[in-house]
Amino acid sequence: MCGIIGYVGPRSAVQVIMDGLRRMEYRGYDSAGLAVVADGRLAGRKKAGKLTNLAAELEVDPLPGSHQGIGHTRWATHGGPTDANAHPHYSADGRVAVVHNGIIENFTALRHRLEADGVVFQSQTDSEAVAHLLSQGLATGLDLLTALRQVCLQLDGAFTLVALDAQAPDRIVAARRNSPLVVGVGQGENFLASDVASFIEHTRDAIELGQDQVVEITPDSVKVVTFAGQVAPTRPYRIDWDLSAAEKGGYDWFMRKEIYEQPRAVADTLLGRIDADGRLCLDEMRIDRAKLRSVDKIIIVACGTAYHAGLIAKYAIEHWTRIPCEVEIASEFRYRDPIVNASTLVVTISQSGETADTLMAIRHAREQHAPVVAICNTNGATIPRESDAVIYTHAGPEIGVASTKGFTTQIVACYLLGLYLAQERGIKFGDEVAALVRRLAALPDQMQQVLDGLDQVAELARRQIEARSVLFIGRHVGYPVALEGALKLKEISYLHAEGFAAGELKHGPIALIEPGLPIFVVVPPQGRDSLHDKVISNLQEVRARGAWTIVLAERGDQEASRWADCLIELPIVPTLFQPLVAIVPLQFFACELATLKGYDVDQPRNLAKSVTVE
Ligand code: G6P
Repeated sequence: MCGIIGYVGPRSAVQVIMDGLRRMEYRGYDSAGLAVVADGRLAGRKKAGKLTNLAAELEVDPLPGSHQGIGHTRWATHGGPTDANAHPHYSADGRVAVVHNGIIENFTALRHRLEADGVVFQSQTDSEAVAHLLSQGLATGLDLLTALRQVCLQLDGAFTLVALDAQAPDRIVAARRNSPLVVGVGQGENFLASDVASFIEHTRDAIELGQDQVVEITPDSVKVVTFAGQVAPTRPYRIDWDLSAAEKGGYDWFMRKEIYEQPRAVADTLLGRIDADGRLCLDEMRIDRAKLRSVDKIIIVACGTAYHAGLIAKYAIEHWTRIPCEVEIASEFRYRDPIVNASTLVVTISQSGETADTLMAIRHAREQHAPVVAICNTNGATIPRESDAVIYTHAGPEIGVASTKGFTTQIVACYLLGLYLAQERGIKFGDEVAALVRRLAALPDQMQQVLDGLDQVAELARRQIEARSVLFIGRHVGYPVALEGALKLKEISYLHAEGFAAGELKHGPIALIEPGLPIFVVVPPQGRDSLHDKVISNLQEVRARGAWTIVLAERGDQEASRWADCLIELPIVPTLFQPLVAIVPLQFFACELATLKGYDVDQPRNLAKSVTVE
């Protein structure tokens, strides 16, 4: 949610900032801007719309050469996506430029106070207040770092701020509360950004900033202090992926590339989980065994696609551990006074590790003394840092706004957690756990088989280009797959799409069916229970009412194929593992349909990848 960057060093600041913003555009793309210091004065450009608009503006009206600058790509909260509301924002005296990610909750009071002092605001944003406050502090003779600290002490809410002072050569300051900020440490140059992807081509050495800290960078130094002014210890780390991982690698969209990366991502997430004694081990487990044994309830909390991964995980976790498991949307969990205590294990799932709703849920859970396990794809992000334990999904950077490999690796990580709990509580023997992990390890090959057969789905998308509405149904773990299939279509194809529990259809949604309506039906494997046959009955019910059925069923399922207008065969896998193969054609269908409709698959309208506001 908003990408911000700052640079000091020998390179062209404009170049570094524009390249960095390009790689952070997934965080927000309704406007963009940058400011540099040249000859003791600020110079800047900002433009509504995507970054290409700003790039075009810079072609026509270039900025002066500079080695010190800040930039921003925006996802609007306060004030519409206009040129005036784009960042940077400037103080009235033109001395200070500021970019901001987050929401300043006491902004109205601050604005009134500043207006009473005679300040005239140029935008409707909450962010502009910071520029004015900062210049007021500087006018009293404070240095830039101290002035920023003092401003931060007046702010409520979530913010990352990066600021530039025309009278402070060779330095940039930044602050962080509840939204991400990382320092890129180079040789004779330093960077500040929301995401390491923005500077990965220049350095892989980084420092994660802690909560309520401010930082000052010069080309040769990084100084971190708390809002209260105490020197803060820094946590340097090395980024374990490179620029090529963040580039499209020949695909038209990041999303398509990420769909195809799923076998690798799932395999990497499973890597090294069994220790020399054959026991399952997790990345960072700071919860002792006695505490794990006393857990009597699990609550999984997440948003969007990660929530759907949680819905799937519930089936496996309850089946393997026999611990009751609830799954809840993070924004609902936090504000409903949930029953959480020291024997509740709270599991949060977040690809970015920065989603504000999920972060607030963690904080609430920890206040109630509940142990928290994070499932996360971003090393060192806020959510894993504030949790008691972490299982990283080693999916590599996910850039497409619609999550794909994030989703499948989250399911795998949740399954590892379920098996770990079963192991630690003595519900499953080591060899049973190892056998299930081996079956999971077969999935990358099976996902690859699905990927190899996607031509048929491309054809299906061409056929359905005029569809006005698409339904998805499934039972058991197939139900959240249906929800996720529908979400993908909504997100990037802007199509009315709904997922339903197949058994619930007859209680209302079946009324939506009219001749020709496309319905995806996720048919469970032909197992010992009656699940499969129940879905076949639901399939017949919708077909009898004229629906055009697209049936996902395991290879050799004769019964399912009889009722399919279009049959997508899946590899034979256990029921609990079917989501990992069944979701792939649904992701691909959404990607293909959006491409055919001419939409921007990686940056769908109104969305952002990392949502750092509640
Ligand atoms: C946003 C994205 C979704 C994502 C959700 C949760 O809404 O658009 O694709 O699933 O956030 O993100 P997280 O990073 O917490 O998994």
